[in-house]
Amino acid sequence: MKVLSLGGAGFIGSHLTARLLQEGHTVTVVDQENDKIQEWLSLDRLKVVKEDIRRPDWGLVELVQDANVVIDLIAYANPSLYIKMPMEVFRLNFNENLKIAEACVKLKKRLIQFSTCEVYGKTPASFLNGYLANPGDSMHATFSEDTTNLIMGPVGKHRWIYASAKQLLERVLHAYGLEGHLNYTIIRPFNFIGPKIDYLPSEKEGIPRVFSNFLQALMNGSPMYLVDGGHHQRAYTFIDDAVDCIMRIIENRDAVCEKQIFNIGSPANEISVRELAVKMRDIYKRRWWDGVSPLPEIVNISAKDFYGVGYDDSDRRIPDITKATMLLGWRPRLNLDDTIENSMEYWFERQEHEIPLKDAALR
Ligand SMILES: NC(=O)c1ccc[n+]([C@@H]2O[C@H](COP(=O)([O-])OP(=O)(O)OC[C@H]3O[C@@H](n4cnc5c(N)ncnc54)[C@H](O)[C@@H]3O)[C@@H](O)[C@H]2O)c1
Repeated sequence: MKVLSLGGAGFIGSHLTARLLQEGHTVTVVDQENDKIQEWLSLDRLKVVKEDIRRPDWGLVELVQDANVVIDLIAYANPSLYIKMPMEVFRLNFNENLKIAEACVKLKKRLIQFSTCEVYGKTPASFLNGYLANPGDSMHATFSEDTTNLIMGPVGKHRWIYASAKQLLERVLHAYGLEGHLNYTIIRPFNFIGPKIDYLPSEKEGIPRVFSNFLQALMNGSPMYLVDGGHHQRAYTFIDDAVDCIMRIIENRDAVCEKQIFNIGSPANEISVRELAVKMRDIYKRRWWDGVSPLPEIVNISAKDFYGVGYDDSDRRIPDITKATMLLGWRPRLNLDDTIENSMEYWFERQEHEIPLKDAALR
């Protein structure tokens, strides 16, 4: 198969590119970077177009024309950017992504669009707390693709521009599908972690996602900041499990993925952000600590001090993966402890061998 992967050198994209190549497919990657796919660059079946898709007339239509399937992973996916430059997030995550969808409509190509679990927003329990018999029941935080309502915070909490842009894009794809003009599949990832997540040590784009943020603190010996006490809960998914599911979606046996939305996540791997910090520090202490330097402190900080005005968050989110299990026969395999430890291992080994994955150095 000829796959066009936009954002195919990012965290998820680089793992997917590797898997596609290993399974014999031909891949064209469009990305501003290529350092996460360096080991594959000499392969004939991989073409890399190092490009900023915001540049006008950069050649999208020709590449879409040449592909059997188009995968769109391009987005700003870093919460600090939603606060610092919300319009840029909207322009890239909606306007530029829409152009990709429209090229697929025009050229009748299948589109696999990466959205986000953030489209679900907050749980009903977050505001109906006093009215629910068991607000802590996981059923109030388990989100299903086709039935769960999507609950965003107020407009003034501009963090929601990321989720809103993704949600609007999903609605446009659905509408194109209703008109019979687009064969699409939407993926909603739930907190994937693993090797190559973000760029560490990070020198640009502000504060990376929570897992990378803690990792960076452990690598530098700096404090691990818990925003608003770290009460929020997340379900973490190891990247290899996620890629197994994405590959089944690409394969699309019996066309089961047409016009479908899929949650990809590990419902059993739920943990609060505070517990995550403690667990990561314990793993660090056991595996990589020199026994002499002080262990990083876990420090509370307000969201306003950490991110700035306009921050808000999903309190809890657990994927309902019934659809992926029923239609694709997929289930995640890695438990929470191994998911976290395997993801940390990659970075500490790089640090031990002094191989930073730094985008700043590559620009
Ligand atoms: N990782 C997760 O757990 C997660 C969760 C929810 C949603 N998602 C979504 O999945 C997708 C991939 O996420 P990721 O974690 O791999 O993020 P990532 O930031 O690692 O990957 C995005 C890639 O897009 C590229 N890119 C950004 N702007 C570009 C531009 N203007 N032109 C060309 N390339 C550009 C980046 O260089 C990067 O390689 C995103 O759409 C994200 O919103 C990911």
